[in-house]
Amino acid sequence: MLSIILNGCFGRMGEELQKEIYNREDLNLVAGIDRTKQDAAFPVYQSLAEVNETADVVIDFSHESSIPHLVDQCVQKQLPVVIATTGLSEQKKQKLQEASRAIPLFYSANMSLGINVLIEALQKL
Ligand SMILES: NC(=O)c1ccc[n+]([C@@H]2O[C@H](COP(=O)([O-])OP(=O)(O)OC[C@H]3O[C@@H](n4cnc5c(N)ncnc54)[C@H](O)[C@@H]3O)[C@@H](O)[C@H]2O)c1
Repeated sequence: MLSIILNGCFGRMGEELQKEIYNREDLNLVAGIDRTKQDAAFPVYQSLAEVNETADVVIDFSHESSIPHLVDQCVQKQLPVVIATTGLSEQKKQKLQEASRAIPLFYSANMSLGINVLIEALQKL
């Protein structure tokens, strides 16, 4: 069972990921992170710093402004992370490079092969 924290859980992609995760018995959504508040079947926080649940990986479909803090927290908590958010500046991409020396980090601005690519990436992580 792979435990997942979903950053941007209430966005369009976050909602799609929620459905995919619930449809699979080998995936478990342990917590979500979003700047908006909504009812959910899982605990929701505004920052990874607040999340107490343990997980195998963080999946991010959010906003570029959230990436530096998210990555810092992933490094601090030693959590592997998949980042799909687009629009990252060169400075933020450089930050991902640096973080990838400390934790498993998969970044792609084009997951066009869909959710299967993401799941394959998770298995590799
Ligand atoms: N890599 C890919 O193939 C791929 C595919 C689709 C979308 N995307 C990217 O994923 C991102 C999300 O897309 P979307 O269509 O779901 O967007 P969206 O606007 O529907 O959802 C973004 C979500 O992130 C939340 N959010 C914003 N700032 C946040 C923060 N600081 N912390 C936590 N959550 C925050 C918003 O409240 C919202 O719920 C975009 O950057 C989009 O370009 C990438």
